[in-house]
Amino acid sequence: MEPSVAHRVEQVLERVSAQAGTRVSILDLLEKVEAAIGYVPLESIPRLAQSLGVSEAQVAGVLSYYPDLHTQPTGRHVVRVCLGEACLANHGNRVLQAMCKHLQADVGETTSDGRCTVETVYCVGNCGVSPSVVIDEDLYGRVTPDRLPALLERYK
Ligand code: FES
Repeated sequence: MEPSVAHRVEQVLERVSAQAGTRVSILDLLEKVEAAIGYVPLESIPRLAQSLGVSEAQVAGVLSYYPDLHTQPTGRHVVRVCLGEACLANHGNRVLQAMCKHLQADVGETTSDGRCTVETVYCVGNCGVSPSVVIDEDLYGRVTPDRLPALLERYK
């Protein structure tokens, strides 16, 4: 882990330990690291596990379970195309193909300019107006390939 990244992880741990009397869950801590650094470095797992008094496997398990947590740096924006059942039935796969083509990045990749990371998600509770796309914290429904350029224009 780069020294600067390790330092930022330590800063998060210091802030958490300064909150006297507060017991932090694995997920809480991972979310704090993600918020501070933009991702959770795999190399930080032993240190995080030690600070929580849990096993590295427990930390790794939570980290791999939640799609909002990343183990690599992401782009400035994270674009998630839903491939849940309702979205697939309404051509969510076409939206994903168009998204990848428009951004010139495959699923799991970040655009060369660092603008967007493309991910998939499996139901975001927006089935009634599927297919759905989530960009950062913003949820969009009835997304079509034609709408993508205008939608993405908002995220520079
Ligand atoms: S399946 Fe996509 S929002 Fe539910």
